[in-house]
Order: sequence, then C-alpha cells, then structure tokens
Amino acid sequence: MKVVEGMPKTYYHYPRIVAVAGVIFDKKVNVIPLVWHTGLSFSPPLYGISISPKRYSYELILKSGEFSVNFLEFKYHKIVEKWGSVTGKEVDKLTQTQVSFKKGIKTDTPVLNIAYVVHECELIEHYSLGDHTLFVGLVKATHYREDYFDEKTMLKVEEIRPLLYLGKHVYITVNPETKSDLDKA
Ligand SMILES: Cc1cc2nc3c(=O)[nH]c(=O)nc-3n(C[C@H](O)[C@H](O)[C@H](O)COP(=O)(O)O)c2cc1C
Repeated sequence: MKVVEGMPKTYYHYPRIVAVAGVIFDKKVNVIPLVWHTGLSFSPPLYGISISPKRYSYELILKSGEFSVNFLEFKYHKIVEKWGSVTGKEVDKLTQTQVSFKKGIKTDTPVLNIAYVVHECELIEHYSLGDHTLFVGLVKATHYREDYFDEKTMLKVEEIRPLLYLGKHVYITVNPETKSDLDKA
C-alpha cells in the first residue's frame, strides 16, 4: 500500500450514505446534502452533522437552533446534486426542484415528502473542528416509512435503494446480492 503523511483531500474513505439536513429560520427554508454525519448516542438520542462555516445552512442552523436529517433514495440523486451545487442564500432550493415538506411535530424543521427517514433535532452543542463544525442534535422525533423496513428495523435493500456518494459528483447505491445475514449462519 502507498503511504502519505496526513489525510490528503480525497475520497478514499467513501462511499458514504447521503443525508440532507433541513432548516427553517425566519420563514426561510433550506436544505443541504451531507456525507459527514453520524449517529452519536442512543440514550439520549444524539445525531451529529458536520458543516463548513462557508455554507449558508451553517448560519441558519445556528440561528434557528434546530435541524432535520432526511434520508433519500438513490432515485433522487439528481435533485440532491442540485441542492449541493447552489446556495440557499441565492435560491429557494425546494421550490426550484418542486419538492414539498411539512413541518416537524416537535420542531419547526422541514420533513421532506421524498424522504424515507427523518430525524427532527434540537441543536444542543456545536464544536468547531478544523474547517468544519460538528452540530450535535438531540433527536426529538423520527419519521420513517414503515413499509421500507423489515421486522428488525433494517432497510429492505431488495426493494429500496439508499443514496450513497462516491465523491466528485458521483452517486451509487448498494447491491442487495452482497447482503450476508450471519445471524442465520
Ligand atoms: C453529496 C454531497 C455531500 C456533501 N457533504 C457535505 C458535508 O458533509 N458538509 C458540508 O459542509 N458540505 C457538504 N457538501 C456541500 C454542500 O452541500 C454545498 O456546499 C451546498 O450547496 C451548501 O448549501 P447552502 O449554502 O445552501 O448551505 C456536500 C455536497 C454534496 C453534493
């Protein structure tokens, strides 16, 4: 294996599942595609998203104190690419792409109608880490498409294709033929 010092600005640790954070502040609704996001804790339920201060969403989330985390299917990758190539400072991304939303039940955050899972989060901490900021959300409610999950709460990948990102505008999904359930082995 080739070795270089530090971590080059590359996509070596991709693919990663895409999440779309949503925020509403002062009647402004915005969405931002993210690959740097993760569950952080079950109890209390915490979800983390990492956003550059250069993004318009960064200031909206700080001001509103809440955000949603939306998961979409692969079939929406062209819409996601659009959301990631313009700024909400200049365009109304949801109107432009004709995607609708409803407000959350516990927060005033956008729950996208095309999402299959949405976490509504209250911002409880934020940490500046290098050139990104980790926003930590307390998950107040989770919306999910019941028919998309099996009895173990796992995504039915045989039917539903989650959206993953390889980097540099390239999207991909999973191959269900590689699924290996070792519980039954
Ligand atoms: C698939 C994808 C993943 C991205 N992941 C992140 C991320 O994790 N953090 C981040 O700050 N920006 C990320 N970006 C860039 C923002 O989505 C992009 O700059 C967006 O246009 C910012 O919108 P805003 O200015 O309306 O907030 C990603 C873009 C794409 C297309």
